[in-house]
Parts: sequence; C-alpha cells; structure tokens
Amino acid sequence: MTNSNVTLPSVQLGKDGPLVGAQGLGCMGMSEFYGSADLKEVRATLDLSVELGVTLFDTADMYGVGENERFLADFLAANRSKVSIATKFGYARTPEAPDDWSVTNDPAHIRRAVDASLSRLGVEVIDLYYMHRRDPSVPLVESVGAMADLVGEGKVLSLGLCEVTAEELAEANEIHPIAALQSEWSVFSREIENNVAPMAAQLGVTVVPYAPLGRGLLTGQTALSLDDARRNFPRFSEENLATNMRLVEVVRSLAQRRGVTPAQIALAWLHDRARIFKLPVLPIPGTRKRHRLRENVAAATLTLSSEEVTALDRLANQVQGQRV
Ligand SMILES: NC(=O)c1ccc[n+]([C@@H]2O[C@H](COP(=O)([O-])OP(=O)(O)OC[C@H]3O[C@@H](n4cnc5c(N)ncnc54)[C@H](OP(=O)(O)O)[C@@H]3O)[C@@H](O)[C@H]2O)c1
Repeated sequence: MTNSNVTLPSVQLGKDGPLVGAQGLGCMGMSEFYGSADLKEVRATLDLSVELGVTLFDTADMYGVGENERFLADFLAANRSKVSIATKFGYARTPEAPDDWSVTNDPAHIRRAVDASLSRLGVEVIDLYYMHRRDPSVPLVESVGAMADLVGEGKVLSLGLCEVTAEELAEANEIHPIAALQSEWSVFSREIENNVAPMAAQLGVTVVPYAPLGRGLLTGQTALSLDDARRNFPRFSEENLATNMRLVEVVRSLAQRRGVTPAQIALAWLHDRARIFKLPVLPIPGTRKRHRLRENVAAATLTLSSEEVTALDRLANQVQGQRV
C-alpha cells in the first residue's frame, strides 16, 4: 500500500463545478512555516502528483508572502490544462510587513489581491478563489459581492471560503454559489462536524479539509528543525506533546495492523467522512516528498472498518492544546 501507484477517484467541486481528484496537494510548506525544502524534490513531487491524479493545488497569497504562488508558476505553465489552482486573499501581510497578520476583506483589497495573484501565478484565471479569513467588519454582501464580480470579469472560476460559520456559509451562498469550504479537519480537529459540515452538505458545497495530518502530528514525525513554525504551536509544545503522542500511538497501532502508515490511516478516516456526512470531501495534505505523496494518494482508496473508525473517533476530545 505504502508506495503503490494508485490513481485517485474524483469528486465534484461545488454543485456545478468540474470533477477534480479526491485529494489535492497543499503547497504552503513548500515556501514557508515548515523549515527549508529541497526545491528540486518539491518540483518532482508536483509533477508526480499530476501523474497520480491530483488535480487541485492549494496555495495562498500570504504563503511565503507571494513566494509560493511565484514558485508554482512554472509548474502551472507546464500543466495548465490538467490542473486547477486554488489561492486565497485576506491576510494583509506584504514583503515590507511580513508580520502584519491582520485580515482585510475590503473590496478594494480583493481587487488588488486577485490581480497580484494572477500575475504571480502566471495564469489568466484562478480556478478557485478563497477568502482566507473573514473580516467581520466587512458585510459578506460586500466581500462575497466583490468576489462574485471577479467571476463576472472572468478572473476567477469559482468561489471558496475558509473557517467560516455555518450561518456565514449559508449567507455567502445566497450572494453567489460557494463551491468549496476549507477548514481544519482531521482525526485531531473535528469542530467542523458540529454545524459547518452538515450545512455544506445541505448547500452542495465541497469541503476541503486543511491540515488533514494535524500539520504532521498525526504521522508521528515530530522532529522539527529550528526554523519550523510548529515549535510555537500549542499541540507541539513540550507540555502537550507527550499526551498527543500517546494518541498518535493509537493511529500507529491501527496502521501497523493494516500494514499501512499512520498518515494513510488519518487520511482514510477523513475520506470516510464523505460517506458519513454525505458530501464531497477533498483533503489537501501538504508534502514536499514523492514517497509521501504516493502514500497519501493511496490512502484515498483505503477503507477502514467500523471498529477502526470508532477507535479514531475517540481521539479528538483528548487532544491537548488549541489548533492554530
Ligand atoms: N485555509 C487555511 O487557513 C489553511 C491553514 C493551513 C494549511 N492550509 C493548506 O492546507 C495544506 C495542508 O496543511 P498542512 O501542510 O499545514 O498540514 P498537513 O497536511 O496536516 O501536514 C503536513 C506535514 O505532514 C508531513 N507529511 C505529509 N505527508 C506525510 C506522510 N505520508 N508521512 C509523514 N509525514 C507527512 C509534511 O512533511 P513534508 O512536507 O516534509 O513531507 C508536513 O510536515 C497546506 O499546505 C495549505 O495549502 C490552509
């Protein structure tokens, strides 16, 4: 299972959107937050993902403060007809002010941000454009209205939101159909299951779980380089890590029994949520390495038993530390 060349099944992006591979590739760590990357291996990983049926690539204007979008441009140019690109606006960070984590949904900002992303990515249209975070000072009718204008202008094909409430999702969907909702969702982070996932199912919105491997924690691989931002994440802190690793042991022992890896168990659990919530679920694990990509893609067709699902369902409530 670990290294098989399984190709992905497809899911629909939103009610009327294209069919895309049921797992995307998270590109954030290629440019920032998770320590340095071997860019040759990263590019090889991107190329392999297309061969394995991955078609949705996830970035944001703030990853590497524009660098991640710029890095993807060459890959996109070589594969444009085969892949969909998702990017996001909303954080105010700029190269001049990289520590400005304020959020802005101002329509003028959105109009500037989309042009900057189009230019950095080197594409004529963004397939899926997300609001990265909601700025509650701007009514949705203005922010989503501005996003809808971008669809009208042909700059964007479909719209997405991140980390909004069920009510916000429904309100936004009245303004313009929302194709995708991105939130953290994993064996360790299940808040979305209370209200947001049921609302997405009702509205026909595809759910795109980010950090499906708990930012790597669920894989059991927690050796972090000195420049890795996760050193400051509560779930990786010294006081919480021991407890959380005991929970990872449960994942690891299930994996051992099946002859698969912990990452595959975590992803298979997430793909199974599609059955439980009756909606398309499209996780976007981030990896910069080909062997891990193969593992992750193979997990999309791994079926868990109800006993395995029940054992995994018990873990989230015991996790120590807030998600970031
Ligand atoms: N909308 C938002 O607010 C938001 C927030 C965070 C992330 N995201 C998006 O979601 C994507 C995924 O989230 P994430 O990267 O934070 O977390 P993740 O996918 O849960 O975990 C990524 C980590 O797991 C490691 N990994 C991946 N596959 C593995 C495997 N099979 N075995 C062992 N380790 C493995 C990666 O290392 P290597 O890279 O070294 O393989 C990386 O350290 C991001 O890239 C980004 O596009 C969105």
